[in-house]
Amino acid sequence: MAWVRACSVTDIEPGEAVVVDVDPPLAVFNVDGEFLAAADTCTHGASSLADGYIDGAEVECAWHFAKFCLRTGKALTLPATEAIATYAVRVEDDAVFVDV
Ligand code: FES
Repeated sequence: MAWVRACSVTDIEPGEAVVVDVDPPLAVFNVDGEFLAAADTCTHGASSLADGYIDGAEVECAWHFAKFCLRTGKALTLPATEAIATYAVRVEDDAVFVDV
């Protein structure tokens, strides 16, 4: 396990996401005050999912509109068929940590 400090809790408004510059890049999403972390790169192409449309615990890719579940990583709609990785998150002292 390697926990990295991803951002401050105040860095992400509800319904928004930030990219964390690790390899491969991941994104932290604020889902109504809950923080979820997943791979930032869509499994269909090279689009950043942090730039996608966040609806509850789902993100829709901005390029071809595949949807992913941010809790399980599962691809919910075509054209993506492959899940994205998801990561454990913990919040400590107003900082969001992700287990990369
Ligand atoms: S790059 Fe995400 S759906 Fe095509």
